[in-house]
Amino acid sequence: MRIPENKIEEVRNAANIVDVISEYVSLRKRGKNYLGLCPFHNEKTPSFTVSSEKQIFHCFGCHAGGNVFKFLMDYKKISYVEAIQELADEFGITIEYDEKYVEIQSEQEILYDINTVAAKYFSNNLLSASEGETARKYFAERKLKQQSLRSFGLGYSYSARDSFVKYAKENKLDLDKCIHLGLIGRYDDGNYYDKFSSRIIFPIFSPNGRVVAFAGRIFDDRENWAKYLNSPESSIYHKGKILYGLSHAKDEIRRQNKAILVEGYMDLISLHQSGIKNVVAVSGTALTEDQIQLLSRYTKNVILLFDADNAGIKASMRSIELLLKQEMEVRVISLPKGEDPDSFVNNFGKEKFEELVKSAKNFLEYQTAFYESQGLLEDPMRLTEVIKELVKTLALINDELKRNLLLKSIAKKFNIRENLLEDELEKIINVTNKTAEQKNNVVNEKNAEEKRVRESKKEKVQGENLAIERDLIKLLFEGDKKILGFIASYVTPESLSDETNKEICRKALDEYFAKKDISAAALTEIFPEEEIQDYIYEITFDKYSTSRRWAERNLMDDGKSNLPKQAEDIVKNFLLIKIDERIKDNLQRLAEADNEELVKGLMKIIDELTQSKKEIANIKF
Ligand code: UTP
Ligand code: MN
Repeated sequence: MRIPENKIEEVRNAANIVDVISEYVSLRKRGKNYLGLCPFHNEKTPSFTVSSEKQIFHCFGCHAGGNVFKFLMDYKKISYVEAIQELADEFGITIEYDEKYVEIQSEQEILYDINTVAAKYFSNNLLSASEGETARKYFAERKLKQQSLRSFGLGYSYSARDSFVKYAKENKLDLDKCIHLGLIGRYDDGNYYDKFSSRIIFPIFSPNGRVVAFAGRIFDDRENWAKYLNSPESSIYHKGKILYGLSHAKDEIRRQNKAILVEGYMDLISLHQSGIKNVVAVSGTALTEDQIQLLSRYTKNVILLFDADNAGIKASMRSIELLLKQEMEVRVISLPKGEDPDSFVNNFGKEKFEELVKSAKNFLEYQTAFYESQGLLEDPMRLTEVIKELVKTLALINDELKRNLLLKSIAKKFNIRENLLEDELEKIINVTNKTAEQKNNVVNEKNAEEKRVRESKKEKVQGENLAIERDLIKLLFEGDKKILGFIASYVTPESLSDETNKEICRKALDEYFAKKDISAAALTEIFPEEEIQDYIYEITFDKYSTSRRWAERNLMDDGKSNLPKQAEDIVKNFLLIKIDERIKDNLQRLAEADNEELVKGLMKIIDELTQSKKEIANIKF
């Protein structure tokens, strides 16, 4: 069942995004946009921007963004269809649902679907099958409520080694794809077997809440069984880029503007169940840079809450450094010995847990307390090492002001003159820079120099290239059919050099060729990936003023920009840059050519390319 495309378009056109959002957020006009306090995270200065012209919104603080439907979905926690229905009702538009809609699925969609089917299967086993009783008992002992089992989609995989295989066959799932997803394996004799048999199942979700993988845990004493079995990497699961629980936690993380980071699945679910919902789990890997980057889209404030064992402390120390490098604010909670977050909240309750969060130490205090507990502060020799270690961590912080304030606090704590520490810090920063430099240096000094010159030239070209590509992308979101048609007839997406730009251009032009709605508000819906959405909003809202030309050139008498002229210039420029690149490449080859045939051939190509530059100059919108 599906709402017909033209109805969606009708509703989207009827509902003015500024009016709709104004019912919930107070907006003020600022330039051509509207500005207000973001409803999706805590803020004091407005960074929530609404474009009436393009009918989209974007928050530069927390990266929320989308069209009018997306706003209602996020604000009211309703589905896409519900958002459309709600606005349709408001504007008196009647919707007939289209029953016979057949979807052409992409490869990835098929994988997501298999995981969804599998997740449902495991969940049914747990919730209602008789063999699920032992697993139900186990979760009950661990104090998980029915509601939590449901909202995290927990499940159980039967002990028979072929029960999912049978189910997959009955439901005509593609078995090769099930293997790719790590749900089943294949013996040498060609028979299939379940990978997760006899385990309780934790589905792992993407930030948008789709099942990308599974973790299966043994739940009784079984020797020689790994405690957890995780799905392998697949084309929909990159484990270093996923934070467990993010889809459940992201709204609350934005609202509180801070995230608690725990180690385990059970920790996260128990906290959630107790009403502490701004939690994500690293789960299954050491914290990665990608995970931090993902989290930083929702907040810059992280509270580490790892187990109080040695592994946990080591993980905390390491994570602090990674987080600081990516300019996150880090605080750390220490748990009483022997507790993990799951046991703590079950034993002591939500209030005590919240006190613990309030008492979170900044990372310096945490590190100091750790060294103190090791008795390192009493021995003057070790103390020097400790202070050096602390200063080393400080050196990771880019913000000079922050660094200096923290330096002062170390000086005070250990009663040391500040300038002594400053010297130490300076030394470390210099050494870090030097090693970086040394790495870049090739033994042969002359080669290195040549390389640098070449690189800097290349960078410059790439810079120009990217600016013009961004201009092209911006044009795609002006909602003008003629402009897309013009771009389509001269530019192929493959000729763009940046992968993201390529993808955006390809999809936008596909929509154009499919004669679909190509307004900015409609196009945002075909890019579900949050990173790409962010990028699009930043371009369309002029965050990086793409090329300066965009703002300065081609203004008409009334101050509005002359879009057709704009498009003409951008397309021409883009094509010229591409041709110039090719000419340069061929000139290079010519310089190195060692036979006459090749020289002739190359000269001909260069001639033709130069000729086509003239043709480009004649392109008219
Ligand atoms: P823990 O051993 O602390 O498990 O590992 P846990 O999640 O707290 O489970 P309970 O409380 O014993 O039931 C912490 C996390 O490390 C990963 C899992 O993500 C786990 O949640 N892990 C652990 C693995 O991936 N594989 C393992 O074999 C063990
Ligand atoms: Mn645990």
